[in-house]
Order: sequence, then C-alpha cells, then structure tokens
Amino acid sequence: MDKKFIRETRAFKTSRVFPTDCNNHNTLFGGKLMSYIDDIASISAAKLCRSSTVTASTDSVDFLHPIEPTDSVSLESFVTWTGHSSMEVFIKVIKENLKTGERTIAATSFQTFVALDEHSGGKIAVPGVIPETEEEKKLHETAPVRAEMRRHRREESKKFAGFLTMDYPWD
Ligand SMILES: CC(C)(COP(=O)(O)OP(=O)(O)OC[C@H]1O[C@@H](n2cnc3c(N)ncnc32)[C@H](O)[C@@H]1OP(=O)(O)O)[C@@H](O)C(=O)NCCC(=O)NCCS
Repeated sequence: MDKKFIRETRAFKTSRVFPTDCNNHNTLFGGKLMSYIDDIASISAAKLCRSSTVTASTDSVDFLHPIEPTDSVSLESFVTWTGHSSMEVFIKVIKENLKTGERTIAATSFQTFVALDEHSGGKIAVPGVIPETEEEKKLHETAPVRAEMRRHRREESKKFAGFLTMDYPWD
C-alpha cells in the first residue's frame, strides 16, 4: 500500500467562542473543545484511510491555557504515525486574541483511530505516513514510544475493567 504525505491528512477548523460555548468561568467549556478535537481528528484519520473509522482512544488532552470569548479557537490535526489498522492523530489548538492578534498554543491532544471496512465493519490496513516538516518529523519519530505506552495502558485498562462491578448503584 502506498504511503501518503502527512500533509495530505491535515485538517483545519476555526471558530468563535460564543456565550453558549462557555463554562461558569466564562472560558471555553472543556467538553466543547474535546468535541471539536474528536471531530477534526476523525477527519484527518479519514483522509488517510478513506474508509470508516472509530476512535479507539483519546490518549491525552492537555489544556494549557483557557480560551476567552475574545479569542478565536483554531484546531489543526494530522496523522503522525500508523500501525496496521490504527492511526495516531495529533491535534494542536491555537487561540488568537482577536483584538491584538496574539497567538498561543491553548491545548494539544493525541488520539488513536482504527480503520474499518465499510461493509464488514472489520479492521483494515492503513497506509503509512511520510513526514516532511520538522514538526511532523519530531512527532513521527517519537510515536513508537507513545504507541508502546498505549499498548501497556490498554492491557492495564482491560485488567482494571475486570475489577469493576456492573450492579445498579441503588442495589
Ligand atoms: C477500537 C476497536 C475497533 C478495537 O478493536 P479490537 O478488536 O479490540 O482490536 P485489536 O485488539 O485487534 O486492535 C486493533 C488496532 O487498534 C489498536 N487499539 C485497540 N484499542 C486501542 C486503544 N484503546 N488505544 C490505542 N490503540 C488501540 C490496536 O493497537 C491495533 O492497532 P494496529 O492494528 O495498528 O496494530 C474496538 O475496541 C471498538 O470498536 N471500540 C469502540 C470504538 C468506539 O465506539 N469509539 C467511539 C465512537 S467512534
């Protein structure tokens, strides 16, 4: 399967921060931002595999700075690395003060998606990716370490789920 350039998987999205998007601190609600992140990341994953995808894990979301109603919020995502059927997507969130033009990295996130066959729903192989920019190269080179950490966490997570009860809280 031919590899694709990482740039071919890039997606962009910019929004205003409306009052209904805010929390009780009058900054962008974290859940709203996470929804934007999952949305854009799924587009990058689809641009790579051109098939159905599911979110396998939200590996990390780091909220670095609050996003104010006077800011715009821009998200940029791209696939940094692939396994057999899985794709690691990096998402960078930049806030821009619309009065001054000052730009700040407000959040970063890594998510993993799995490609599925449109008809059978089974997992399918995805193309590899070729980094070009320094940022892409750095993220691509460091990805195997993150993949190993995810594999370990997934095993722990399965064990942990085995301990949990499924009783109704009122029983
Ligand atoms: C994600 C899912 C398809 C994996 O299915 P599975 O049969 O457990 O898959 P496997 O163990 O064969 O793993 C398939 C790939 O996913 C990766 N993967 C699976 N779970 C993962 C996790 N929690 N985190 C990161 N990667 C994961 C595996 O490493 C593997 O990668 P590779 O093919 O590149 O080697 C399945 O668990 C699922 O459907 N989960 C629910 C997804 C969902 O509802 N998402 C929210 C809405 S889109």
